[in-house]
Amino acid sequence: MIIIVDFGSQTTHLIGRRIRDLGVAIEIILPQDALNQITKHKPKGIILSGGPASVYGKKALLLDKKIFNLGIPVLGICYGLEVIGHVLGGKVKSGIKKEYGSTHFYLKNDCQLFADWKSNKKDFTVWMSHFDQVVKLPKGMTGIGSTTAVRHAAFTNEKKKIYAVMFHPEVHHTQYGQDILRNFVLKICAENPIIGQKKTEEIKKFLKEKIGKEKAVCALSGGIDSSVAAYLSHQVIGKNLTCFYIDTGLMREGETAEIKNTFKNKLILPLIIVDGKKDFLKALKGVVEPEEKRKVIGETFIRIFEREAKKIRAKILIQGTIYPDVIESKGTKHSHKIKTHHNVGGLPEKHGFKIVEPLRMLYKDEVRQIARELKFPQEMIARHVFPGPGLAVRIIGEVTEKKLKILKKADSIVIEEIKKAGLYEGIWMAFAIFTGIKTTGVTGDERKYGETIAIRAIESKDTMTADWVKLPYSVLARISERIVTEVFEVCRVVYDITTKPPGTMEWE
Ligand code: XMP
Repeated sequence: MIIIVDFGSQTTHLIGRRIRDLGVAIEIILPQDALNQITKHKPKGIILSGGPASVYGKKALLLDKKIFNLGIPVLGICYGLEVIGHVLGGKVKSGIKKEYGSTHFYLKNDCQLFADWKSNKKDFTVWMSHFDQVVKLPKGMTGIGSTTAVRHAAFTNEKKKIYAVMFHPEVHHTQYGQDILRNFVLKICAENPIIGQKKTEEIKKFLKEKIGKEKAVCALSGGIDSSVAAYLSHQVIGKNLTCFYIDTGLMREGETAEIKNTFKNKLILPLIIVDGKKDFLKALKGVVEPEEKRKVIGETFIRIFEREAKKIRAKILIQGTIYPDVIESKGTKHSHKIKTHHNVGGLPEKHGFKIVEPLRMLYKDEVRQIARELKFPQEMIARHVFPGPGLAVRIIGEVTEKKLKILKKADSIVIEEIKKAGLYEGIWMAFAIFTGIKTTGVTGDERKYGETIAIRAIESKDTMTADWVKLPYSVLARISERIVTEVFEVCRVVYDITTKPPGTMEWE
């Protein structure tokens, strides 16, 4: 087993996921209790995660120095590297140049961590997200690589099997990331991969234990997560499950009809459609702040669920929450809250349900894999991810019926053109944003003071990092032309070219 010490990184669980992908068990523990836990579990290796703190700050989370003398290999990632640097006597300082997102790493000295690569690369792309850096190495450490902004972007004491990298090998956008982790776990720690239980079996076992003979409702959004959660729950509890789909009015153009059709004719799950359009618009009136929006939406959802569940006396609510939703909503002790993700937005604390989240520990690509195994229709598997709070978080400012109408039209053009160009399935998500910025335009020699629509298209594998898609100019041109001519209120279209980090995928 490999122990991961969680310093509050957004990607701690993703490190775990990568290790599990290698067939090796993990345990995530907190730094305060690390020595105890490590002595108890006797792991083959220890990984120190990233985290938002500063090793020299008031809220610094550090480690007992004894951990480095147990003879167990250690790999520090990002903040984990700084912890190694600081605890073992080096010097950590705030960097002059910050690095967020993609950067180049130059490998200077080889070591076991970078050994035996087929391509023998000495310079590759990595993803960073930091502001501090180690400016003086601890005694016994050798620098093995740098970036333009960070001299000691990787270092090691090979004799003691201590390794540290400033970048995140666990994120999909770091080239050779999985090779680095494989080298650490299977070579340096000499861990043996074991074959795990099938994920669907694990989930069903979990559902059986949590629900037993009780009645449950499942809130379906039409997306892959809640659909998989509902489908597996139906296999486990059958008639005791009732599925709802709430038409919030915040869905994309034509989506409700599509969902109705899928569940009626393809997945064959009994589904009750509830019209909540008025409830949502009323609740969102005057709400501008993004977190407030999520909370209002979460509250509205849960009150409708309660109303519906009462009719059939169900006390359990099954949801398709996946791990990135959990972590970005501050799912671990030391992580920062980025936004209140939830399938239904920000869930209020007080509600009458026992919540069951069978996919809570999984990533989107794992859920998609399960959907493939369950033979879900391809269009459903390939369907772009859509946030629980829907178009409300793609309208900057107050949500109104008028803005929704404009956004739905613009958004359907984006999707149509991307599909026509044959690019839809290769993209994580593409959408339009109602920016709320008015700009001056000229149409038919007349001045027009109209709306600005932004387009965002991104690629990602695990939600934690993302890059913007280099859509061909011809596709962008076609989208822009169509939006400004077909959506009367719009007079400007812009393209968002921000990666995550530092941006998030959605604008709110
Ligand atoms: P961000 O914007 O945080 O989004 O980079 C990552 C992924 O999560 C989706 N998302 C949400 N999903 N409830 C959800 O169920 C939410 O409140 C929410 N906010 C963002 C987003 O669409 C993207 O796929």
